[in-house]
Amino acid sequence: MRKTLSFLKKQYQLGQKITCLTAYDATYAHWVAASGVDMILVGDSLGMVVQGHQTTLPVSVDEMVYHTQMVQRGNQQAWCIADMPFMSDTTLDSALTAAARLMKEAGANMVKLEGGQRILKTVQALSEMGVPVCGHLGLLPQSVQKYGYKIQKNDPDSAQILLDDALALQAHGAEMLVLECVPSELAEKVTSTLSIPVIGIGSGRQTSGQVLVLHDMLGVTMGKSPRFSKDFLAESDSIQSALALYVHQVTTGEFPSASHEVG
Ligand code: KIV
Repeated sequence: MRKTLSFLKKQYQLGQKITCLTAYDATYAHWVAASGVDMILVGDSLGMVVQGHQTTLPVSVDEMVYHTQMVQRGNQQAWCIADMPFMSDTTLDSALTAAARLMKEAGANMVKLEGGQRILKTVQALSEMGVPVCGHLGLLPQSVQKYGYKIQKNDPDSAQILLDDALALQAHGAEMLVLECVPSELAEKVTSTLSIPVIGIGSGRQTSGQVLVLHDMLGVTMGKSPRFSKDFLAESDSIQSALALYVHQVTTGEFPSASHEVG
């Protein structure tokens, strides 16, 4: 049976870590879900790791629908989050249309949007329509041309902006939040302030759960793997055991360790 939002909320309330990995096709989605991973993210990182682009920007709504459909054919157990790609939410109308396609045509359980104040009205509208929404703050890959791939600053003003954005997303109906490359102390503060699960990537060990890009955690990234990731396949004899090791180490708090901290 597929995990539900209320199942994940209960896990969060019990203080049990939530595990998430990206997947982009049916076979990997099948094995990721079979390993016990709670959530599959069909990330627009597919633009880089599957399509070979330099950034996530070229990914279209059609491509997100196509990959989410494939994932949901292979995935029977995990909650499935689909990314709203760059510029799919320039108007409320276009955001609702993209989210409708991801939910109705592709079978996503939740959509994820990057940004803070700019997306609040969209988050609220989606939430009122019954669409579960996951926010994404910290390093925003869709804004890479403007800000670069930078770790979130931790000075008091920047930290307050991040915390305010996180609280505003929650107040407007976000059910979950991804924090990317946020210094661990700040990620811990956001996690303890919010009452929704915070899923970290490169944001230390105190978040409610962890997400990694599948290719990074299998050590098959083209070029350099991010410092916050770990090659689980290097310590395993198969892809299936690498996935199980990831679930085990996130659940027990062994991953991420201090050596995976970015700031
Ligand atoms: O697209 C993606 O894979 C993501 C993760 C980096 C969280 O958004």
